[in-house]
Amino acid sequence: MSKTITGFSKLTKKEKINWLANNFFNDADAGISILEQYQNQNEKLQQLHDEFIENTISNFYIPYAVAPNFIINGKPYAIPMAIEESSVVAAASLVAKFWSSRGGFKANVISTTKVGQVHFMFAGDFKDLQIYFSENKDSLLKATDPITANMRKRGGGILDIELRDKTNDLDNYYQLHVTFETADSMGANFINSCLETIANTFKSEDIKIVMSILSNYVPECLVRAEVSCKVEDFFDVDPLFYAQKFIQAVQIANVEPYRSVTHNKGIMNGIDAVVLATGNDFRAVAAGAHAYAAKSGVYKSLTNAKIEKGNFYFWIEIPLSLGTVGGLTKLHPLAKLSLEILQNPSAEELMQIIAVAGLSQNFAALKALTTTGIQQGHMKMHLMNILNQLEANLHEKEVIIKEFTGKTVSHNAIAEALHELRIKN
Ligand code: MEV
Repeated sequence: MSKTITGFSKLTKKEKINWLANNFFNDADAGISILEQYQNQNEKLQQLHDEFIENTISNFYIPYAVAPNFIINGKPYAIPMAIEESSVVAAASLVAKFWSSRGGFKANVISTTKVGQVHFMFAGDFKDLQIYFSENKDSLLKATDPITANMRKRGGGILDIELRDKTNDLDNYYQLHVTFETADSMGANFINSCLETIANTFKSEDIKIVMSILSNYVPECLVRAEVSCKVEDFFDVDPLFYAQKFIQAVQIANVEPYRSVTHNKGIMNGIDAVVLATGNDFRAVAAGAHAYAAKSGVYKSLTNAKIEKGNFYFWIEIPLSLGTVGGLTKLHPLAKLSLEILQNPSAEELMQIIAVAGLSQNFAALKALTTTGIQQGHMKMHLMNILNQLEANLHEKEVIIKEFTGKTVSHNAIAEALHELRIKN
C-alpha cells in the first residue's frame, strides 16, 4: 500500500474515499461512515458542492446562525453568521439589542477603489520606460475594452493605470499599479483578467513581466461604522468609570501589538462569520484588514473610542472588498439566502453591515473584559462543548449545567461530575 498516488483527481469519489480509507483511516468503516453522514442526500445539492472545488469527498459543516435586532442607519437587520466559535452569535445579539435602544449603528462607505498590479523587470533607463508607458497607456486601456464592457455598464471599470518605480526596493523592479471600481462584485476574476491583458499588451523585449495579480490590500475600499450614546447610558453602575476603562482597553490595543492582535481577532470573529455566510472570501478580507491595522508600521487596533462632550463614541474603520453578485454569492444556496435575509444589499450596504458585525464583537469583548471578564460568558458554551464531547444525554446535561452555574468549568471537573452522576443513576 502506498501513501502517495498519481491520478487521484481522476478517481471517482468512491474510489478516492476507498483509497484514503485503506491508507489513512484507523478504522476504515468508521471513517467512511462519517464521510457518508456528511454527504447531502439531495444529489443535486451535493453535486453543486462537489464542483466548487477539486477532490471533494464530503462536506465540512459549520453552524449557520442569525443575530437579530441590528439597527443600521435606521434600518433593521437580522445578520446571518457562519461560525464554529461559541459565544460569537450570542454576543452579537446582545450588542445589537443594547445599541438598538441607543440610536443603533451608523455606517458609511468612505471609498470603493480596488487595486491590481502588473509586476515587471526593466533594466533600461526609467525615462524611456515613462515615454513607452505614456505612449501606450491608451492602448492598454483599449485592450481591456471587451473585458470591461459589462462592468462599465454597471458603473465600474478601470479607474487608472499608473507606472511606479520600485527600484529603490528591488533592482529593476517596476509596476503598473491599476485601480478599479467593481460595482457590486468583489471583482477578483475581472481584475485579474484585466491585468493579464494589460501585461500582454505592455510586455516587450526589455519589459519582462513577473506576474499580474490583484491586491488584497485595499486601503481605499474603506468603510466606517460607529455607535455613540450619552456616557450615563453606557453602563448601569458607574458609567463614566466603565466608559473610561473601555477606552483604556482600546488605547492599550493601539500601543501593544500582543493585545492588538487579539483585539482585532475578536473583530474578525464577527467580520469573517458574515463574510463567510454571504459567500465572500474571508481570507482576502482578513489579510486586508490586518495589513490595514499595520499601515502606520505598527500593528494597531482597527477600532477607536473616545468621550467627547458627555458622549461616548466607538467606531471602526476597515477595508472590506466584498461582492453581492458573482462568485459564490448566488451559487451557494445558503449564501444566496443570507443575502436575502440581509434584504439583498448592494456591495456598499454589505460593507456597512459587516463593519457593524466587527464593531459589535469588539464591543462585546471589551465590555466583558473590562467588567466581569471574558470567561463568564464563555463558560456556558464551553460546558456544553465538554458535555457533548463526553456524550452526555439531555438529563445529564440539565443536571450538570445546574451544578456548574457560576462555577469555573474544566474538562476534568465535568468528567468527574458526570462520572458520579452516572454511578448514582
Ligand atoms: C476570542 O475569540 C476573542 C477575544 O479574545 C477578543 C478580545 O480579547 O478582544 C475575546
